[in-house]
Amino acid sequence: MKERLESLKEEAEALVNKVSDEQGLLSIKARYLGKKGEITSILKEMGSLQPLERPAFGQLVNLVKDSLEKAVEERLIFLRKRVTEEALKGEKVDVTLPGRRMPVGKRHPLTQVMDDVVGIFTRIGYSVADGPEIETDYYNFEALNIPKDHPARDMQDTFYISEEKVLRTHTSPVQIRTMERQAPPVRIIAPGSVYRCDSDVTHSPMFHQVEGLMVDKGISFGDLKGTLKIFVREMFGEDISIRFRPSFFPFTEPSAEVDIQCVMCKGKGCRVCSGSGWLEIMGCGMVDPAVLGFVNYDPELYTGFAFGMGIERIAMLKYKINDIRLFFENDVRFLNQF
Ligand code: FA5
Ligand code: MG
Repeated sequence: MKERLESLKEEAEALVNKVSDEQGLLSIKARYLGKKGEITSILKEMGSLQPLERPAFGQLVNLVKDSLEKAVEERLIFLRKRVTEEALKGEKVDVTLPGRRMPVGKRHPLTQVMDDVVGIFTRIGYSVADGPEIETDYYNFEALNIPKDHPARDMQDTFYISEEKVLRTHTSPVQIRTMERQAPPVRIIAPGSVYRCDSDVTHSPMFHQVEGLMVDKGISFGDLKGTLKIFVREMFGEDISIRFRPSFFPFTEPSAEVDIQCVMCKGKGCRVCSGSGWLEIMGCGMVDPAVLGFVNYDPELYTGFAFGMGIERIAMLKYKINDIRLFFENDVRFLNQF
């Protein structure tokens, strides 16, 4: 039996050292060392040996198995190395070739415009505030003077989460949250995402607004006009004029929409501005005394103004983009242009 073991060992080692691929090596391993392999099965024949001889023979079998396993391991490493060398054969490395440039990312155009807007207002003394995107009915509507059955709720097609929770339809609730937290004077902007059940070439179900709020003693509509004039000049350039058009928001009184001279035709009238020469960029107005009442500011003492602009709208005008959906399709060929 010892001799048989020896010859099996030699036979297996010779095969292992000759085999030229991994697959073949594994089948040799199975043939000799597997559960029913030739060397493994020899153990079952030990019954024919003298009881005293058995332990020594068992040990010998284990030694043979170990050494064969080691031979298989070594062959495996050798075969794998050969495969890599084979693959690299003929490849020449030219160390003088210029390196491959990593593509450099950049900010999304909406983020750029948002940062621009925030930059303009922080430079004139505003600080940045924020609030949750899942908002309560109270902050999104009630405290902004829009009671439950008020028709003004229909102006904003709301995603309701429950009776009392909504995806905020505008950044105006941040006005309330900020005034609740601090006493006047207040001078903040609040950039962020907002949501409406709304979708076409100029409306997206998720879009961005920047809210502005200034409350102090003696703030007038003149301050609002001056502030927004500075903003438009910084954003669109010296030669773009603006106008205020009477409008309605439940939380401002009086209210206005701000139009800028059409950036495409400079006011002559074109397709983009439907021939009017003007484009709407935001809503604004003097904070309604009722809203100041909700946050316990004394409306006899304090006045303020607020505004809310759509970032997509501003970006579309600034970069002359005609479909809002381009911002959200994530096509780098589009995004790379800004
Ligand atoms: C408001 O949301 C008011 N909260 C603005 C405001 C703030 C008024 C403070 C007074 C004081 P409005 O619904 O008009 O107003 O939206 C403001 C801007 O958001 C619009 O001028 C438009 O630029 C943008 N906007 C509205 N709906 C969408 C939409 N679905 N997709 C993209 N932009 C939108
Ligand atoms: Mg509007």
